[in-house]
Amino acid sequence: MNVIWAVSALLLVCWRATAYTAPEILTDPSEVINQTSAVLRCNLTSSAIHIKGSHWMHNGKVIDRTKKTDSNPYTVLDLDKIIETSGGKYECVFLADRELKQTIEVKTLPHVLAYKHSEHGNENDIAVLTCLSHGYPLPTDWTWFKLEDGKTDPIMNGTGNKYEIKSTPNKTMLTINDLSIQKDIGEYICSGTNELGTNTDKIHLRVRSRLAALWPFLGIVAEVIILVTIIFIYEKRRKPDEVNDDDDSGSAPLKSNSTANHKDKNVRQRNSN
Ligand SMILES: *[C@@H]1O[C@H](CO)[C@@H](O)[C@H](O)[C@H]1NC(C)=O
Ligand SMILES: *[C@@H]1O[C@H](CO)[C@@H](O)[C@H](O)[C@H]1NC(C)=O
Ligand SMILES: *[C@@H]1O[C@H](CO)[C@@H](O)[C@H](O)[C@H]1NC(C)=O
Ligand SMILES: *[C@@H]1O[C@H](CO)[C@@H](O)[C@H](O)[C@H]1NC(C)=O
Repeated sequence: MNVIWAVSALLLVCWRATAYTAPEILTDPSEVINQTSAVLRCNLTSSAIHIKGSHWMHNGKVIDRTKKTDSNPYTVLDLDKIIETSGGKYECVFLADRELKQTIEVKTLPHVLAYKHSEHGNENDIAVLTCLSHGYPLPTDWTWFKLEDGKTDPIMNGTGNKYEIKSTPNKTMLTINDLSIQKDIGEYICSGTNELGTNTDKIHLRVRSRLAALWPFLGIVAEVIILVTIIFIYEKRRKPDEVNDDDDSGSAPLKSNSTANHKDKNVRQRNSN
């Protein structure tokens, strides 16, 4: 029994050793922590391998500008400005009969970004505030605060059915129930923490009264009523005029002139007769 166990363990070790490509590539540095810039180097040490090219990858995506088709067993990636979204897993890849690669992790303070910096909800309704992270490593802890007279009050999950917090490493959501204009308007802070430290972002919450939500609708109703009234009045004032000048067109003063002219003519005609 023991022999079988030892043999299978040995086989496993051999299998691991052939599948594991790491010892053939030296990296410098082995990882980058909390730096604003870095130069990543990979050195393929075994000379027996025929290299057809190389490139770098960031979080599984090829960085196009690093693609090379030379046989150089050495490749460098210059990260001249590391920001919180540029962290992650960088891999140098040498193209040979098989791909040979090695990883250098670039770690930064957590990236924390409010999904929207301004949110609004209606009185008695709910509001959901969301913050995201795209950095590396992702936050292991998320917390929420409310800014109250310059102080930050931590928000506890589930307090009195008022607040509910749901978090995953790349996202945190704060649900605020039964919104109140007096208590809930203000600034909220989401805070993400990873092994290097903490970053925050801020969201402003507005709460509208129930009536305010109706205003746009009431505005349209008022507009329609005014329009209908105007049309109605216009029609009413137009009708009697139209009845009066059946044959004559034109405005009132001209009309009275022309009737006066007619009368004059009639008078003159009668005079001449
Ligand atoms: C790559 O590694 C080999 C073996 O360790 C070393 O002799 C060589 O100088 C290294 N090349 C570079 C460019 O650092
Ligand atoms: C908050 O409470 C809810 C339900 O009680 C739970 O599903 C959720 O995971 C909790 N969130 C956190 C961050 O603990
Ligand atoms: C967040 O992580 C989940 C799994 O943990 C993944 O399915 C999702 O795509 C991620 N979202 C973003 C925006 O990265
Ligand atoms: C990383 O750098 C920030 C300032 O840029 C500093 O506040 C923080 O303490 C550093 N973290 C570590 C783990 O060195």
